[in-house]
Amino acid sequence: MKSVVAEDLVKTYDRGKVRALDGLSLDVSEGTVLGVLGPNGAGKTTTVRVLTTLLIPDSGRATVAGIDVIKHPEKVREVIGLSGQYAAVDETLTGWDNLIMFGRLYHLSAKAAKVRAEELLEQFSLTDAAKRPIRTYSGGMRRRLDLSASLIVKPKILFLDEPTTGLDPRGRQEMWGVIKGLVAGGTTLLLTTQYLEEADHLADDIVVVDHGKVIARGTSDQLKRQVGGERLEVVVEAKDLNSAKEILSRVSGAHINVDEGLRQVSAPVTTGSKALIEAARELDDLGIHPLDIGLKRPSLDDVFISLTGHVAEEPKVEEDGEAGKKRRRKK
Ligand SMILES: Nc1ncnc2c1ncn2[C@@H]1O[C@H](COP(=O)(O)OP(=O)(O)O)[C@@H](O)[C@H]1O
Ligand SMILES: [Mg+2]
Repeated sequence: MKSVVAEDLVKTYDRGKVRALDGLSLDVSEGTVLGVLGPNGAGKTTTVRVLTTLLIPDSGRATVAGIDVIKHPEKVREVIGLSGQYAAVDETLTGWDNLIMFGRLYHLSAKAAKVRAEELLEQFSLTDAAKRPIRTYSGGMRRRLDLSASLIVKPKILFLDEPTTGLDPRGRQEMWGVIKGLVAGGTTLLLTTQYLEEADHLADDIVVVDHGKVIARGTSDQLKRQVGGERLEVVVEAKDLNSAKEILSRVSGAHINVDEGLRQVSAPVTTGSKALIEAARELDDLGIHPLDIGLKRPSLDDVFISLTGHVAEEPKVEEDGEAGKKRRRKK
């Protein structure tokens, strides 16, 4: 059963000059996490806004929990939670007051709103900070409060738009823990991120988005395999470089890579640790003690670079022209 389906979504801005979504399709199976991975400007937020009924696409179709997002937005809103890149909480109010306010917005009784606020503050380790205004919160605490506000009515399907962007490593770890807890509780999740590591860590399936299109999909392992399997890497002293080349060439049976400066030889292998042991044994037989030897799996960074030709963190160079200039000035 598919909880979210998007087919051929197109969305343009600035009278068609900016093609934010250019035929984007994806789906999320019930009870799973889909990571939508892409650099700045790829179309992630636009996708989330369409799926959460905040934006009508120029063309294409989408359903959430089987409900058409364009025809029945109010029904879709009943089954989803949304936590955005830009939090909707009120800075001047306390965490407690914010959650009560959201509870009332969702038509909970005063009593039910209190019960839910208490539960959520507890769940997100915010009980101690409950009576402090949000503006005194750390970035991580703020994100957790924003997330808890989106969980007031226990949505079956949750959308998180870059939930850890801008958080420090500790805040990110905490957020990951919180998200894992939600997923373990059965929530279906669509999560956007610029962080390859985050998608790797949290998502069952990943779609890589660039320029408003899905350019690759699969599990993290499948995507990594797509760019090639494991590599065996050996670093030796200069005098042993030629022997190392011969050994790796034999063990790998494929083209080897040599970095004379680093005195590193590497080659693709298909037999994993078996190849590693074989190479280590042969080096040892010749009395060669490598300074470093190991198997390297391709990272999602390698995947991203090989798919898009650019690194994920690199801000996209905007097209020239009025639309691009206007937007740059706004930032
Ligand atoms: N309101 C808007 N008006 C004009 N252009 C926009 C607007 N919102 C987004 N864009 C453009 O659409 C593209 C996709 O944006 P967005 O969906 O926000 O990407 P992401 O969330 O992946 O960073 C970008 O080129 C962005 O500059
Ligand atoms: Mg965004």
